[in-house]
Amino acid sequence: MGYKIYSRTKIAGLIFSLLLVLLISCNDKVAEPDKIESRVNQLLTRMTLDEKIGQMTQIDPGFAGGEEQLKKSVRDGRYGSLLNLFGVEKVNEMQKIAIEESRLGIPLLIGRDVIHGYRTIFPIPLGMAASWNPEIVKKAFRISAIECSSQGIKWTFAPMIDITWDPRWGRIAEGCGEDPFLASTLSKAMVEGIQGDDLTDPTAVAACAKHYVGYGFSEAGRDYNTTYISEPVLRNVVLKPFKAAKDAGALTFMSGFNDLNGIPASGNEFTLKEILRKEWGFNGMVVSDWSSISEMISHGFCANEKEAALKALKAGVDMEMSSLTYAGNIKQLLQEGKIDQQMVDEAVKNILRVKFKLGLFENPYTKAEAQKQMLNPDFLDHARKVARESAVLLKNKDKALPLSQKIRSVAVIGPLADSPRDQLGTWVFDGKAENSVTPLTAFKEVLGSEKVNFIKCLQYSRDKKKNDFAKTIALAKKSEAIVYFGGEEWILSGEGQARGEINLPGAQDELINELAKTGKPLIVVIMAGRPLAIGNVLDKADAVLYGWHGGSMAGPALADLIFGKESPSGKLPVTFVKGSGQIPFYYYHNNTGRPATAKSWTPMDSIPVVNPQSSLGYKSFHLDYGFTPLLPFGFGLSYTTFKYSDLSLSSMSMSTSGSITVKASVSNTGEMDADEIVQLYVRDRVGSITRPVKELKGYKRISLAQGKQAQVEFQLSAKDLEFFNGHQNVIEPGEFDIWIGPNSADGLHGEFTIQ
Ligand code: BGC
Repeated sequence: MGYKIYSRTKIAGLIFSLLLVLLISCNDKVAEPDKIESRVNQLLTRMTLDEKIGQMTQIDPGFAGGEEQLKKSVRDGRYGSLLNLFGVEKVNEMQKIAIEESRLGIPLLIGRDVIHGYRTIFPIPLGMAASWNPEIVKKAFRISAIECSSQGIKWTFAPMIDITWDPRWGRIAEGCGEDPFLASTLSKAMVEGIQGDDLTDPTAVAACAKHYVGYGFSEAGRDYNTTYISEPVLRNVVLKPFKAAKDAGALTFMSGFNDLNGIPASGNEFTLKEILRKEWGFNGMVVSDWSSISEMISHGFCANEKEAALKALKAGVDMEMSSLTYAGNIKQLLQEGKIDQQMVDEAVKNILRVKFKLGLFENPYTKAEAQKQMLNPDFLDHARKVARESAVLLKNKDKALPLSQKIRSVAVIGPLADSPRDQLGTWVFDGKAENSVTPLTAFKEVLGSEKVNFIKCLQYSRDKKKNDFAKTIALAKKSEAIVYFGGEEWILSGEGQARGEINLPGAQDELINELAKTGKPLIVVIMAGRPLAIGNVLDKADAVLYGWHGGSMAGPALADLIFGKESPSGKLPVTFVKGSGQIPFYYYHNNTGRPATAKSWTPMDSIPVVNPQSSLGYKSFHLDYGFTPLLPFGFGLSYTTFKYSDLSLSSMSMSTSGSITVKASVSNTGEMDADEIVQLYVRDRVGSITRPVKELKGYKRISLAQGKQAQVEFQLSAKDLEFFNGHQNVIEPGEFDIWIGPNSADGLHGEFTIQ
């Protein structure tokens, strides 16, 4: 008994110590956020109203009334953040004023757009999306963060994760394309890359998920235009990558320029308050886009700046970028009782929390040793790898590619063959053209200068002058093969750069027609910020490689592919249309009541003049374009061939809380080691609202040696099939189709049910 008592006491003691250890370790985990909250609250109690409003204001130093005035304002605590303050010395100088000379010593948050690289420029985000490789995308954003943080930039306005269905919109270049699943996986990777593993690390940078929300649906692709998005599309498509960014820990969000269903995004309580804050529990900071608060006056949503400030604050925008409606009106709004102190305090807390999380109070300055990191060879190597994996092979007739390195001569032609700035693409503030390696330089490196016959012919992508056509054709004729580098200059995509027609600009198509007539193998490489309508190129060229704007190392990356060092492996992150009239065309459209088939399409030219009505198919198609796109989402060829076989499902049915394993074999049946991106699509045949004809639910990039086979496996859970039906999120029992394949138009087919 005594022994037992002793043993019980001992056991109880042990349990007690264990619990204590557990409690302490749990406490350790919650201690950090708790500590931050208490520091935020303590600081808040010491702040004056002016200082609070200052934290809620962000300015570009160029608009701050000159250097001395800027310093005075920082000293007076009038700004919480500066964007576009350039140079690490300047950043440290301004930070010193904030820390040492302002009353409370609150550090500034220094922001800048680092969209696809800082000095080492990676392909435009749409290009990176074509790699379908979150790992390399994450690393690219880590490198960007390492480089920009070395200059004192601790906040970047990336990732841009606006889904769009419209290639006319110039900002399609900045996003991940049309698909919510692909964009969500990349959104997560980008946030993780930008912020790193430890927010207090000197190289950690705060991410900003933008533009919240709906901006990519600007009508007719015209920038800043109105958007109308139904709630199912909003929730099932547009919000998905933002939720992924939030879940990945994005510290900040940016409210967009557009009005969404009549309510501007920067005054939208439904999206900012109901969804972001309440449903998702976001406790980071929301910054407005540039003057998007004061622009609510032009939208006709607010009569004046005071009302704009009121509506933005009520919606939950914490910090105002560029316009000064908060600075000018919050005091009065408080006095008039239109807002209460708590609203202001909440906004300030959201801002301070980010600054504390980033460790800015402990480490406000940027150390000099960090500056060595810029354009480091490993970074450039990575940029080359990403550019390589981003390029998509669209056609390769009779194995026109790869070219042999033993080729006697190549005609390198076109406006983008040697255009260092253009290949960087849009949204490059700090990358320099002098650090670009162009395709021409790379070709000379591979072949030796004497074998490369170069002529631009068209001086820039929009050039219509044909003065050099004859010379160019002569040069092409004396070469063994032609490689034409065309597309769009960088200025034709990006913010404000919408196009009505998305064809190849200038006289490029005419030049390509002439080059094709020479009978020489014609390789066309398109470098562009959007998916262009390149039907003519696909007709005339022997091989077409889509390189987007590939960044600093676009030249060597394209040469690696063209000369067969590696096989192209990218796949389209967006549907390619035949012409602007087909827009919007996205692969996950609904079926309609009259889906077209090849049999039902009536080509315009086939309609008889007499009794024309009798020939019409009365299905959903265009008389001129038909009903298929130029190229489907997910499409991309390789130098090798892949064979898909043996689709199997672990079960033909699952419950609404269950999951199944889906497998298929993929074999490399060609003559080269290569990567393949294996894609999983699903169709929900019947729903309480109509459902898309296909939805991407998984993908894997696999490397397969020549002759090898791999089994690719996906877990698909019923939860993955959940959707918002206009009222609520539902997982609906019923029949489903499933495909594993190389793109959204092909694949092995199976079926299963949810019960
Ligand atoms: C753009 C944002 C950008 C901001 C700051 C705006 O014009 O829409 O994407 O982050 O400027 O440069």
